[in-house]
Amino acid sequence: MAETHPSQTGESDDRLVYAPEELLASGDYAEPLIANGVRCHGGFEADGRYRSPRVIHRVPAIRSWQAQLARSGDDLVEIPAALVPPQYPNVAQAKLLMRNGAREPIVRALTIISIVEGFGAMIRDVEVPDLDELIVEPYDGTALAHLRSGLFEAHARDESGYREEGGHKQMWEAARDAALENPKIPGDVLMRLMGRRGRGQRPEPAFPQIGPKLERMLGFMANVLVVEVIAEGTFQWGIEVLSDPEVSAAPEVAGTMVAHIRADEAPHVEYLRTALSEVRARTIRCVDGTTIDGRTVVDGLLHRVLDGMRRNRRADQEDDLREGLMAALKETANPDALAEEFESLTTKWTPPAKTGFEPRTEDPQAA
Ligand SMILES: [Fe+2]
Ligand SMILES: [Fe+2]
Repeated sequence: MAETHPSQTGESDDRLVYAPEELLASGDYAEPLIANGVRCHGGFEADGRYRSPRVIHRVPAIRSWQAQLARSGDDLVEIPAALVPPQYPNVAQAKLLMRNGAREPIVRALTIISIVEGFGAMIRDVEVPDLDELIVEPYDGTALAHLRSGLFEAHARDESGYREEGGHKQMWEAARDAALENPKIPGDVLMRLMGRRGRGQRPEPAFPQIGPKLERMLGFMANVLVVEVIAEGTFQWGIEVLSDPEVSAAPEVAGTMVAHIRADEAPHVEYLRTALSEVRARTIRCVDGTTIDGRTVVDGLLHRVLDGMRRNRRADQEDDLREGLMAALKETANPDALAEEFESLTTKWTPPAKTGFEPRTEDPQAA
């Protein structure tokens, strides 16, 4: 969890209802965060500590909603870290390439991260259906009840910036440009990424009985939650690579920037898993008037996303880099030896056999 604002210390932890303006409020900062000349979100307390944007009420709110789940004996879903393939190229591989002047793959990897962060803004366009009709039990005073009134918007602003303030997209670009001294950005990064994303889109509805709007929203949330969990590994990688003076021209600036981004991410994982857990603890009313256990739906959607990640993410990462990697190696003094060393540093990884969200045998869906 990110730090709370000092003025909020002691704020009642049992408040469950918040106005959108509260969930979007950042409070005052002693100093703004400027990254590579770009004014970014967040800022510094008088004592120099970084405070993430929009957390003064959002963080205590999420904590209250999670406490409420715990009080009612409901689980908070957790994405097992073991399902996330290791970063490719890993830290040692990235540094090896950079030390040998093969920087393009790293510029590319960092650019992909900044673009994916910017995609986060799409969450504000996710349509929230009429939950009063779809959720059987009461849900006021939950994260679920605040998705449209603050949580999605706060998330979107964190990722892609808001008005004159940069968000994560701009912060990653700043870290990249500082560490690698304004490198030339390959022109095809976005196009390749879109091509790959387009491939797996619009899967068949997994739960047609709940209607397309609710499935779209929950499916999107499941997807973003998993992307956010993957990102945790990416941040660690970014910090380790970009703060190494041997390969980074701005170890302090770039490393700290990524650390700030990582701090900002905590509420994303937390509100998403809270809202999904709240649905999981309830009953969904189907379009034909029958009902289905929320757990069957949420677990089914998480299983689908995690199963796809377990199978495809490693190969996707390799695909994103392969050509650029080959080309970059060719430019170096001893391509064959470097390629061999690069290969030998690859982190071995075997996908776990299960996602942990498999349909339960008593589920009607399991049949
Ligand atoms: Fe982000
Ligand atoms: Fe995020």
